[in-house]
Amino acid sequence: GFHAEKERAALYEINREAAAYFYRAFAKGSNPGLEYMAKRGLDAATLRKFGIGYADAEWDSLYQYFLSKGADPKTLLELGLISNSKDRYYDKYRNRVIFPIINTRGKIIGFGGRILGDGTPKYLNSPESTIFLKKNNLYGLNLTRQDINKENYVILVEGYMDVISLYQHGIRNVSASLGTALTENQAAMLKRYTDNVILSYDADAAGQAAALRGLDILHKSGCKVKVLHVTDGKDPDDFIKKNGKDEFLKLVHDAMSFADYKIHILKQRLDMNTTEGSVEFLQETAKILRELSPVEADIYIKKIARETKISEGAIRLEINGNNNSDH
Ligand code: CTP
Ligand code: MN
Ligand code: MN
Ligand code: MN
Ligand code: MN
Repeated sequence: GFHAEKERAALYEINREAAAYFYRAFAKGSNPGLEYMAKRGLDAATLRKFGIGYADAEWDSLYQYFLSKGADPKTLLELGLISNSKDRYYDKYRNRVIFPIINTRGKIIGFGGRILGDGTPKYLNSPESTIFLKKNNLYGLNLTRQDINKENYVILVEGYMDVISLYQHGIRNVSASLGTALTENQAAMLKRYTDNVILSYDADAAGQAAALRGLDILHKSGCKVKVLHVTDGKDPDDFIKKNGKDEFLKLVHDAMSFADYKIHILKQRLDMNTTEGSVEFLQETAKILRELSPVEADIYIKKIARETKISEGAIRLEINGNNNSDH
């Protein structure tokens, strides 16, 4: 209703003022936040584009600023901009680089704050609120959706730094799920701009596990999804800094399709030199291929028969006629 809408507008306004405060601190002369981001290879134009800010090291400078403007501490608490211990309020973000999270309507719905260097937590993120539901948002989409639409594919990454770094290198059809498990709502958001998703998560075990889960969500949502392997460095930011745009685009070109990736994972997991391993491979592969169109499935059947000791006939039988033998 009207009342709820007015309350939301007030929250957006507070976030907007906080973002402007952080932005001014980052934009003025030299400060530890700017130094940190410059050291990571980001230039002024990119930082400005993403509205990057700096939260100073003072205990309550942001709180005092809002107090002078007559803001209600309760609202600041709700937005996660301040905390309280006993009866004192203090700033939540101190001595951190600030990433405003902006929705596709241009509203600032939350913040991520990165520590300068090592330390924990590496990122501090806004809590969920009536204006910030993590499952309904993708970082960077406010800036990149036209490029996603134009290129007709999106590179989906894990982190803030990946989005900004790829963007600076001229790869602008990018967005991030911010390290949380991908949701159906996020898949639906992407589908407004493209059906083609390249999952480009971190090279570590956590990133690969998240990619595997994301793959299924996106596939179920009707996206054509591929998985990109970062072959040098921890993540897309690392890779593109070391190797540049063209090398990253080669990774995009070589990204594995839904079926290729799942079969790749099966081969890693199963010992194909044992009967048990081969049988499970055949059963699991059949499940994957049943998800594909007949034409696609046919290509894979031939490919698998070539690469393994399993015959085309056996694979076809498992796909078509043998689908209740193990359950
Ligand atoms: N993340 C988080 N809290 C953490 C760690 C990670 O919210 N303590 C989220 C952030 O959105 C982060 C993403 O998960 O961007 C991916 O995490 P990670 O790979 O650790 O960070 P990077 O984005 O690579 O950041 P950096 O390059 O600065 O280490
Ligand atoms: Mn990671
Ligand atoms: Mn990184
Ligand atoms: Mn990372
Ligand atoms: Mn079966």
